[in-house]
Amino acid sequence: MELYQGLLTRRSVRKYKNQKISHQDIEDIIKAAQHAPSAHNKQPWEFLVIEDRNALSSLRSVQRWTSFADEAACAIIVCGDTEQTFSRNKDGEKWDYADIDCSLAAENLMLAAHAKGIGSCFCGASPMPLVIDGLRELLDLPQHIRPIAIIIMGYPAETPIQPQDRYKPEKIHWEKW
Ligand SMILES: Cc1cc2nc3c(=O)[nH]c(=O)nc-3n(C[C@H](O)[C@H](O)[C@H](O)COP(=O)(O)O)c2cc1C
Repeated sequence: MELYQGLLTRRSVRKYKNQKISHQDIEDIIKAAQHAPSAHNKQPWEFLVIEDRNALSSLRSVQRWTSFADEAACAIIVCGDTEQTFSRNKDGEKWDYADIDCSLAAENLMLAAHAKGIGSCFCGASPMPLVIDGLRELLDLPQHIRPIAIIIMGYPAETPIQPQDRYKPEKIHWEKW
């Protein structure tokens, strides 16, 4: 698939065939995620792949908008390592780039899946504190690992309508607002 075409045609897919994704394909997809840009090139991401059906079903207990994970081939939890990410905690400043780095990785991941004919949907984790804590407990994540996105994936059993109105030239500001 040509890259620009892929960017325009990726849509969230929430209905899946009962078909596994090969581990080779999952690794290829994660490889694309690991090629995303990151602040100071820290690459602070970790990827937890969940294929177990009970575990997929239990995601909804901590993030209620993931109920369709029941039917998915897998979910990849994109996590940020808060000890590795570019961050600052001094002189009254406290911030880190884990959410941004991992969101970029997550988009690469979804686009790579799309290129392989695999559907996916980004489901949010960070910055919702209850979801972060719930996932940490459910998945036994260490305290310095922050779950940032739950990417639910599978071979599509639906063809989402392609929106015709996404391009809004009025949102582009040339030189001044
Ligand atoms: C930060 C974020 C959180 C999202 N959380 C969910 C979610 O919990 N459940 C869900 O079904 N979709 C979720 N989505 C997917 C959006 O609903 C979807 O991207 C949006 O409707 C646009 O559709 P498209 O992805 O087909 O372009 C999320 C997307 C983003 C970027």
